[in-house]
Amino acid sequence: MITLTCEEVKVNFSAVFSSEKLMRQLATNLHIGKSVFCYQSVGSTNDVAHRFAKDGARSGTIIIAEFQTMGRGRNAKKWVAQRGENIIASLILRPNIPLERLTHLPLLASLSVAQAIEEIVGIRTEIKWPNDVLIRRKKVAGVLVETSAQAGVVDYVVVGIGLNVNQAQFPDDLAQQATSLFLETGVVYDQTTLLVSLMRFLDANYARLKSGNTESILSMWRGYCDMFGKHITFYQGDSRREGIAIDIDERGFLRVEIEQKEERLSQAEIQTIRY
Ligand code: BTN
Repeated sequence: MITLTCEEVKVNFSAVFSSEKLMRQLATNLHIGKSVFCYQSVGSTNDVAHRFAKDGARSGTIIIAEFQTMGRGRNAKKWVAQRGENIIASLILRPNIPLERLTHLPLLASLSVAQAIEEIVGIRTEIKWPNDVLIRRKKVAGVLVETSAQAGVVDYVVVGIGLNVNQAQFPDDLAQQATSLFLETGVVYDQTTLLVSLMRFLDANYARLKSGNTESILSMWRGYCDMFGKHITFYQGDSRREGIAIDIDERGFLRVEIEQKEERLSQAEIQTIRY
């Protein structure tokens, strides 16, 4: 049974998103969006998703918030998004697939974001490996995948997605690197329309993953990636390294040529790409 904290009960509605409307619009999905929870404010939608998953929430459950007080990004960074302007969502999945195929999930999520933006906004974004979605080299969306596994068996996965939709300003320290759909187009977008598109693409891509058709995910993902053949600098932990990005491999790892030898990165923070 899913339990709500006092704060969630108090604010268990949202003026921007409606659970009923979203579930209706996602009714044709095979898997994603049969349960949807919308909040005005939470600490982190990923944390709510973890708690719900531990309480037994079904796979495909979506948690959405207008605002997060402790939103987090990859590599222990914060994820800050203005109240009510963006998409802040987490998805609970229980993939029941071999652990090694989970490496495709971050790519699958960023691909789905790029496809939804293309469908609704008509802009072709770029994806920076593994899962940053960029417009004109500025980040418009990020993905944070967190897995709960025991003894090599996956219990559930939380896929957190932050997409900057109508935010008109960013704090000074982010303004050079971050953007929103509004800033790029001058158009205010309906967040529900975007969210529905995103969840439909996620559903279709997730079905591909479940059926083992990872090659189609990788090949669509490659179509959005402009890094290959380019000189990159990246961080692995504290060490800064450089090389030429070659491609991704069948697991979604980044193939990089470093001093005439190839390495395959499962995790790294790309710092620069020389276009
Ligand atoms: C990144 O690019 O560093 C990942 C950002 C992920 C942000 C989303 S917003 C919804 C979900 N809840 C969180 O606290 N983080 C993710």
